[in-house]
Amino acid sequence: MSRRDQTYRIEPGQHLDGEISVPGDKSISHRAVMLGGIARGTTKVAGFLESADCKASLAALEAMGVTCRRQSDGALEIDGCGPSGLAPPAGPLDLGNSGTAMRLFMGLLAGQGTPAVLTGDASLSQRPMERVAEPLRAMGATIETEAGTPPVRIAGGSGLNGIEYTLPVPSAQIKSALLLAALGARGRTEVTSPGPSRDHTERMLRAMGVPLSVSDDGLKVGLEGPAALNAIDIIVPGDLSSAAFFIVGACIGARAPLVLRQVGINPTRTGILTILELMGARIETVNETTFGDEPVADLRVHPGQLVGTEIPAGLVPLAIDELPVVFVAAAAAGGRTVVTGASELRVKESDRLHAMAQALSAVGVAVEETADGLIIDGGRITGGTIDSEGDHRIAMSFAVAGLVSEAPIVIRDTGPVATSFPNFVEVARGAGLNINVSGA
Ligand code: S3P
Repeated sequence: MSRRDQTYRIEPGQHLDGEISVPGDKSISHRAVMLGGIARGTTKVAGFLESADCKASLAALEAMGVTCRRQSDGALEIDGCGPSGLAPPAGPLDLGNSGTAMRLFMGLLAGQGTPAVLTGDASLSQRPMERVAEPLRAMGATIETEAGTPPVRIAGGSGLNGIEYTLPVPSAQIKSALLLAALGARGRTEVTSPGPSRDHTERMLRAMGVPLSVSDDGLKVGLEGPAALNAIDIIVPGDLSSAAFFIVGACIGARAPLVLRQVGINPTRTGILTILELMGARIETVNETTFGDEPVADLRVHPGQLVGTEIPAGLVPLAIDELPVVFVAAAAAGGRTVVTGASELRVKESDRLHAMAQALSAVGVAVEETADGLIIDGGRITGGTIDSEGDHRIAMSFAVAGLVSEAPIVIRDTGPVATSFPNFVEVARGAGLNINVSGA
């Protein structure tokens, strides 16, 4: 049976509560193995996300000669091969569904001078790669895309030079690809962003000994290449993007507070918390600590009635992966929610504006798709069948919608959930949401 045949069914009348932990952060897991792979020495990663996307990054590094071991405590050890030490892989590197893996490897491999061909699944094969290839060419890389999309062919050996580059959109993937390329380039690279985006690369590079200059507003990042990395111990926080499904679930469908343990609360990621608070949610941040350079806390989410709002466009990049579940929150909220400035959602794992508009209307929600957002008149989800369009976050968002739906919600094509949250159904059951899985 193919992954497309896996279906979730959620019966109405269920409630979340209790205490859960979500798996490790996807963005940090990718970066930990990539940077560990080119560091000098052995990097230890605790809490690595064992999802299909992150395993694709790990397998790609192994194909380039990096040795990785699982310790008895579950941690991953990576013997870094040092600057320019990655071996040319024998065949194409298949990065599955992961845009992050492909874009970050484009920069990393161009900078390290490692020739490679990068491929992906049907969704990744339609995603834009010139936004990374073009500035890499300006640095001196020889890199080809197929009319803008994968496969991506990187020729090895060409020494890169640093550049000053202003990103066309606030994107952590483009910014990170250029910073990773800069590690192997001669001279200074300076990347300026038109708005904030997640800064995990900057934090990890600094922790590994790379002198990095970051402007006070975080929008201008510079580094002098070539630069070597020192191996460190990394603890990966729980992924706020995975927690988001349960945070929204608790806001709309709990009878008692839900506690999420040790979730990353890096301020470049917490747009979801601010948006839900604007909608009237009460979310307490307790037991704050740090895992290395990343802030972490327990989140206690109180149930309550959400109200629709106009989401400030400035919050969109800080909640970019959480917008599908924000749309579900809006569908459950009283009144109108307007999202603008979110056209980047059209080039994610699916066209998330179109796919979410279709799916919301399939379960009885009044929704209008605009060029760069959605307008949702909330208050009622009647139920029905939706297709995830092969997009993990759409599948999980509608599982949560099932908490407040009048009739069952059936979600087709849920296999891709394994790309980011392989134990989603198990964690959901732990919080009181029983998802019937068929065709698994
Ligand atoms: C990511 C950055 C985001 C996000 C993606 C992961 C990363 O994309 O959507 O899921 O790990 O750098 P952009 O910031 O490039 O839009």
